[in-house]
Amino acid sequence: MSITHVNGPLPGPKGKALLEKWRRYEADVTGFQAPVVWESAKGCTVRDVDGNAFLDWTSGVLVTNVGHCHPHLVEAARKATGDLLNNYECANTYRIAAAEKLVKALPPHLDKCFFLSTGAEATEACLRLMKRKSGKYEILAFAGGFHGRTFGAASAGGMAGPKRGYGPGVPGTIRALFPNPYRDDFGWCGDGPRFPKYFKYLEAEIAANSTGSLGGLIVEPYQGAAGFIFPPPGWLKRLEEWARGNGLLFTLDEVQASYGRTGRMWALEHEGLKPDLVSIGKAIGCGVPVSAVAGTSDVFASLKKGELSSTLGGNPVSSAAVTAILEIYETEDLVGNSAKMGAYMKQKLEALAAKSRFIGDVRGMGLVMGLEFVKDKATREPYPELIKPLIEASANKGVLIGSVGVSSNVIRVAPPLVITRAEADESLALFEKALLELEAK
Ligand SMILES: Cc1ncc(COP(=O)(O)O)c(C=O)c1O
Repeated sequence: MSITHVNGPLPGPKGKALLEKWRRYEADVTGFQAPVVWESAKGCTVRDVDGNAFLDWTSGVLVTNVGHCHPHLVEAARKATGDLLNNYECANTYRIAAAEKLVKALPPHLDKCFFLSTGAEATEACLRLMKRKSGKYEILAFAGGFHGRTFGAASAGGMAGPKRGYGPGVPGTIRALFPNPYRDDFGWCGDGPRFPKYFKYLEAEIAANSTGSLGGLIVEPYQGAAGFIFPPPGWLKRLEEWARGNGLLFTLDEVQASYGRTGRMWALEHEGLKPDLVSIGKAIGCGVPVSAVAGTSDVFASLKKGELSSTLGGNPVSSAAVTAILEIYETEDLVGNSAKMGAYMKQKLEALAAKSRFIGDVRGMGLVMGLEFVKDKATREPYPELIKPLIEASANKGVLIGSVGVSSNVIRVAPPLVITRAEADESLALFEKALLELEAK
């Protein structure tokens, strides 16, 4: 028996009326999504107001790693809600427990954390910490990087969307290109384990743009919003070495890459990275708003008392979620399932790419995979026009997908880490049908 069912063309009648109401009252300024009004969700299955059931390849946006509405998380949040909803910076039992649990789950050199509410807030805090610790004001960041939509985070980012029309960003950002194995225009990716061409370029970029006050760098383990771009193996390790050699602080933005998403608990584990700071978001709360900065005591010591705080950071409900989620990781092998099901789905998606005229690249690790759509596999010209009809066609078959990419031409395959073989098979078959039917039109 199938898990999904879609009763008729989307949006269904209730969904249509609600979407119209929504647009009357809330500004229509978010990205394009399938015309589905979510009502409830469990594990990998999302139900809408018209009684349809979908398999979810989005996890929200790489958020619900433990599965939608995991009962242990729901119960912990419910209990905390009844006990204490707000206490600002005052100590509370939930916050203390969450801090201990998170630090004990982190690589040992990251011996302190600080709780905030969003990924952007966490990366902003990392930028402040790097500037304060180094006493310098320039930060190296990467084209295509995405660190959030607040002003400092967007300035460090290298995506046009969050910046266009807002005038100059925060001064002191030096931005370098990020190596992209699928579009390796400068021959950087296969250039030996030490990437000499890339680092020659990087040094030229810094020599031309720095005033001599470079204090640190921020980088994602893979570029998420830019299109799930994974740098060539070894490049991040070499970047860390280069940063150390130049006396720079190293921040890894794991807002979307941690909690098993890549098949390891922390993405930094793949290459044994030892960043000074890590920004953590999304799956740390699996839907409950919370984020964190993890770092070394030494770096945190550069801020005085009162210099980092946020109204809702470390609130009891968010803190209870942090603890409950880490408890789930102790009892369920979500990280192992991510590696196993990721490898399985990737191999199926590669077989689909061979049949498709337009999937130019399948890439990823664990349960974070990107399908890059191109008009022509030889020229690799991006095909963003296919994405909206594909999102609609997939939803009509019963699979929810979302898109990313500097050229808006990448579909993200990022289901909750609890996905089973049956759920993977059914969603893959439905997605294949949606795509191949669309290609045949
Ligand atoms: C790598 C990365 N950093 C930061 C952010 C910003 O997180 P938030 O939307 O919670 O502010 C995101 C969000 O997509 C992200 O992917």
